[in-house]
Amino acid sequence: MPPGPPAAIPRGNPRIADWTNRRVWLLGASAGIGEALAHALAARGAKLVLSARNASALADLARALGPGHCTLALDATDSAALDAAFARFDSGELPLPSVGVYLAGDYQPLDARQGETALPAARRMLAVNYAAAVEWSLRLAPRLLATPAPASGIALVASVAGYTGLPQALAYSPSKAALIRFAECLYLDLAPQGLGVWAINPGFVATRLTAQNDFEMPALMPPEAAAEAIVRGFASGRFEIHFPTRFTRLLKIAAMLPYALSMPLFAHIARKKPR
Ligand SMILES: NC(=O)c1ccc[n+]([C@@H]2O[C@H](COP(=O)([O-])OP(=O)(O)OC[C@H]3O[C@@H](n4cnc5c(N)ncnc54)[C@H](OP(=O)(O)O)[C@@H]3O)[C@@H](O)[C@H]2O)c1
Repeated sequence: MPPGPPAAIPRGNPRIADWTNRRVWLLGASAGIGEALAHALAARGAKLVLSARNASALADLARALGPGHCTLALDATDSAALDAAFARFDSGELPLPSVGVYLAGDYQPLDARQGETALPAARRMLAVNYAAAVEWSLRLAPRLLATPAPASGIALVASVAGYTGLPQALAYSPSKAALIRFAECLYLDLAPQGLGVWAINPGFVATRLTAQNDFEMPALMPPEAAAEAIVRGFASGRFEIHFPTRFTRLLKIAAMLPYALSMPLFAHIARKKPR
């Protein structure tokens, strides 16, 4: 679609408080925050498309959620698999969801002193945390625009790790920073066309990803609480959904400080109190 003339930017997203029969695609639903969000949305009446690589975990989840949900196993970094998934919506085999939530993510602590040995993991994180999110969003957006539905849109789960560089987060933090910037760009282009675009930035959530951290994580929360915070965020109409706010607000302020002050502070957060 050729770009049209600039349109007015709305002052927020559509508010979604009623999930009854709303079709939602969760990419990254097999574990952690995505699995908890699947339970939270299904309990509110949403009809889910559950995606991730682990087909058997998705099947177990769909069974646990009850009827009305389907699984669509795929590797988000595989363009051909994404094309095949979208073909199933285009053919009408599956109804197009009105809201897509990208949760797929990978994290491994990496340190610049590892040099080239860090490259395989760095490439993996950049691919799934950022490049695949772009690939997925740019396939989903035109389909949502062509199928108008109330309060439809795209939500991207980034991280507060994208607010600033952090120790041991050599690829993770830049990939999430890029995803936040990408969500901002999507919002500016798509919100005037009537689509919602959400950037979801969790603090520390207790999942297999954070189980690798060897420091005490401030304000660590269970995935179920993260899912409830996301549901509340969708009802708020805000572009950014961040939580827990007692932690994320402090990080936002700290990220605005001069580097001479902020860098020692962030190093302290991620290195304090070894367990
Ligand atoms: N936990 C935290 O503290 C925290 C904080 C901020 C942001 N986040 C972000 O929140 C999201 C969910 O993280 P989590 O902590 O819930 O981690 P998790 O438990 O490891 O869940 C990650 C999900 O992403 C899926 N996934 C990973 N690679 C994939 C790929 N190539 N293709 C398709 N699906 C893929 C995984 O399923 P399969 O393995 O089955 O593919 C799983 O369902 C991530 O984007 C993460 O960066 C987490």
